[in-house]
Amino acid sequence: MKGALLYEGKAKQVYEAKDATGKLILSYKNDATAFNGEKKSVFPGKGRLNNEIAAHIFSMLQDQGVKTHFIERLNETEQLVWQTEIIPLEVVVRNVAAGSITKRLGIEEKTVLEPPIVELFYKDDALGDPLINDEHALLVASITQAELQEIKTKALAINIHLQHIFQAIRIQLVDFKLEFGRLACGSIVLADEVSPDTCRLWDVATFEKLDKDVFRQGTGDLLTVYEEILNRLEEQK
Ligand code: TMP
Repeated sequence: MKGALLYEGKAKQVYEAKDATGKLILSYKNDATAFNGEKKSVFPGKGRLNNEIAAHIFSMLQDQGVKTHFIERLNETEQLVWQTEIIPLEVVVRNVAAGSITKRLGIEEKTVLEPPIVELFYKDDALGDPLINDEHALLVASITQAELQEIKTKALAINIHLQHIFQAIRIQLVDFKLEFGRLACGSIVLADEVSPDTCRLWDVATFEKLDKDVFRQGTGDLLTVYEEILNRLEEQK
């Protein structure tokens, strides 16, 4: 089923899917990194948790009519997706101030951002994923103005769907990062992953952080909080 290894990122490997043209296998690793790879650890079982969480979330988004690269979960750590050409933008949506925006703009953590803020980062590890504006995005990402608008509109629509998904499991969606990819036919779909690696998720009652910030900040056990997210999503079904 698995063909050649095409790409290895910090949290996933991407394989060709044998006998399935135009499809790829994403294999979730147990590695966690932060601060552009400066902080690194291995958490046995993290790959399974993120694979299962991302599969749940992508399925729910697809049920809501969001077009994504996701096809199906294959096993504990792998999922089958449509091959896309990843657009080198990290599209961040913020509902509540946390993380880099609090430092960059001096905004207090927990400040509600209404309307939500969309930020673009250039996906380039060597440059440390810099924050960019729309004109920079057109320059570095080979997309048209209309496609950039489409990406931002999709990100805000996905924000509404994700807020509902997480509200139902008593979680506040603080912010998250999306990546989009271009299918062979040219259309742009949600790609990469949506998981506690790529979202800030706070318990609505206790404000407990149930995401990768526990690893970034060294304030809790990554596996315990990821397991909590998966359990709550599974209870929902
Ligand atoms: P930030 O506050 O550090 O800019 O992060 C915003 C959101 O994006 C947060 O939910 C974490 C996520 N994120 C990633 O998924 N990958 C990254 O490399 C970074 C820096 C943030």
